[in-house]
Amino acid sequence: MAVDTDVLEDDWWKQAVVYQVYPRSFKDSDGDGLGDLPGIIDKIPYLKALGIDAVWLSPFYPSALADGGYDVIDYRNVDPRLGTMGDFDSMADALHAAGLKLIVDIVPNHTSNLHPWFREALEAGRGSSGRDRYIFREGRGDHGELPPNDWRSLFGGPAWERVDDGQWYLHIFAREQPDLNWKDPRVHEDFQRTLRFWSDHGADGFRIDVAHGLAKELDDRPLDQMDPDAVGNTLSHDGTSPLWDRNEVHDIYREWRAVFNEYRPPRFAVGEAWVVPEHQYRYASPTELGQVFNFEFAKANWNREQMGTAIREGMEAADRSGSTTTWVMSNHDIPRHASRYGLPQVDATNYHQLANDWILRDGRSYREDRALGTRRARAAILMELALPGSVYIYQGEELGLFEVPDLPWDRLEDPTARRTHGSATEKGRDGCRVPLPWSSEDQPESAPWQATFGQGGSFGFSPDTKEDGTPSDDPHLPQPLWFKDFCVDLQEGDDSSMLALYRKALALRSEWMKKALASGLDLEERKDDVLTFRRADVSGSGGLVCMTNFGTNPVPVQDGSIVLASGALQEGMIPTDTTVWIRF
Ligand code: GLC
Repeated sequence: MAVDTDVLEDDWWKQAVVYQVYPRSFKDSDGDGLGDLPGIIDKIPYLKALGIDAVWLSPFYPSALADGGYDVIDYRNVDPRLGTMGDFDSMADALHAAGLKLIVDIVPNHTSNLHPWFREALEAGRGSSGRDRYIFREGRGDHGELPPNDWRSLFGGPAWERVDDGQWYLHIFAREQPDLNWKDPRVHEDFQRTLRFWSDHGADGFRIDVAHGLAKELDDRPLDQMDPDAVGNTLSHDGTSPLWDRNEVHDIYREWRAVFNEYRPPRFAVGEAWVVPEHQYRYASPTELGQVFNFEFAKANWNREQMGTAIREGMEAADRSGSTTTWVMSNHDIPRHASRYGLPQVDATNYHQLANDWILRDGRSYREDRALGTRRARAAILMELALPGSVYIYQGEELGLFEVPDLPWDRLEDPTARRTHGSATEKGRDGCRVPLPWSSEDQPESAPWQATFGQGGSFGFSPDTKEDGTPSDDPHLPQPLWFKDFCVDLQEGDDSSMLALYRKALALRSEWMKKALASGLDLEERKDDVLTFRRADVSGSGGLVCMTNFGTNPVPVQDGSIVLASGALQEGMIPTDTTVWIRF
C-alpha cells in the first residue's frame, strides 16, 4: 500500500520542500546589480536539480525598497527593475512545466507610504474616508505634539509618525510602512482581489507576512517588548493583546479560505505568525490558512533538548490544527544557521541577541567556528528533512553559506540599520541577503576600500555586461571574497559539498519518504544527547530511523541499513554533530 497520490496532488504543500527566493539577491539577468524574474527563470534547472517542490518568492512588487520590498506600492504588479507581468507569467509557466509550484508573498499589515491609498489619505485630510484605510490618530499633549501612545517600531524609534496637518499614523515597522486598518471593508475587498489576481496568474499558494498582526485595538498599554523573538511570548496569549494574535485576525483568514477554495486545487497559505506554539494551530487550520511557520527550530540552540522540544511542539501543533507543521532554520530575517551553530551556544532566548551582537561587531566579538557550523548545518538538514511536514529552505543554505557580518555600514539596506545607525545598535538583516555566488570563474578583485569585499566580478550573480555592452553594476550588497569557496559550479562537481548533500537528501525524501512513510512520528525519550525518531512505512513493515548525535562521544547505530549520513562514521559509530538515516 502506498500513500494515496490523489490526496498528495491536492495537498501537495503538506509535505513539500519549499525554497525561498529573495528575488533581488538570487540572480541578476540584466546587469543592474539586482536579481530579477528572468534571472529566476534562468535558474529553474538548478532548482529542479536541487529536488525541491515549490518556490516561495519574497516580494517582487513595485517598491521604494525601504524594507527590502516589504513596502509595497502596487500589490498587483511587478517592480520594473525585476521584470514585467509578462516575465511573471513566463516564470510561472516555466516553473509549472518543471513540476514546481509557486508561492507568492502577500504583505497585508502595511503598504508603502508611496501606495496610492496612502497618498490619497494624506491629501484627503483628517476625518476623511481616505484616512480610514490606515490608523491615524490625534496626538497627546496640549498641541497634539506627543504620539498617541508609547508604542515602539520593531525597527527602532516610535511607532508613530506625524503628518503635515498634525495627525499621527501608526507604523509598527518602518515609517515608510503605514499600518492598514483592517476594520475598513475596502481593505478586505482589495486583498481578496489581490489573492485572486495572483491565483489567476499561476500562484499555487501564498506566504502571509506578519499574519498575526493585522487586527489591532489601540490602547495605552506600552508595548516596548517588541523584539521579534519576544513578540507573542511576553504578551498575553488570550487573544486580547492590542496588537498581536488577536481573535479577530482569524475572521480575515476564514474569508480568505473562501477565496482559496474557489480554485482547483484549492490554494493554500502559510502564515508568518510569531506566536506561541499553542496558538499556531489556529492559523494553520483547514478553515484558515492551511499552514503556519513554526519558528521553534530557528530559535533553538544546537542541543538535543531544545531541538527535541521544537520537534515535539511542532508535531503537537500539527495534530491540533489538522494540518502539517513546517520546519525552518533560516530565512531572510534571521542570521544564517551555519553561522549560528558555529557561535557559542547560549540560552535560546538570547541567541538572537548574541548573533546580533556578533554582527554588530563585524563578526569579531566571538569566534565563529566554521568547521563546526558546517558540520552541524549538515547534521541539521538531515534531521529536518526526515521530519513529516513541510521544510522551508532559504536560498544559499544549500551552499552552506555563512552570515556576512562585516558589511560596511554605508552599504547596508535594512531599515533596522538605518534607524539605529546614529546609535549603531543593530546592523540588521543584510548579512543573510547578500547575492548568491554562482560561478567561481567570475572572481571579483578585492576593492581598495575594503580588502575583504570584491569589486568587478560578482561570482556569476550578474552578467559581465549590460545589454548595451557597458560593464554590469556591482551587486546591490557587496559579496565577500570568501564566497569563492561556496560557488555553485564548484559544489556541483564535489560529492562532499553541502549542495551534494542537499541533493541526495532531497531525492531520498521525494522518492522514498514522501511516498512511503506515514505522517506520524515516534520521538524516542532518551536521557543522553542523541535525538532519535522513527517513522513507520505505511505498508506496516519497516521505515526510517533518524539519529542525530549532539553529544561528544560516538554512539552506536540502530539496526538497519544506513542510507545517508551527514558525515563519516567513526569505527561504525555516529560521531558528534552527525545525523544518519537508517532504513529498517
Ligand atoms: C516580515 C518580513 C520582514 C519584514 C517585515 C515587515 O517579518 O519577513 O522581512 O521586514 O515583515 O514587512
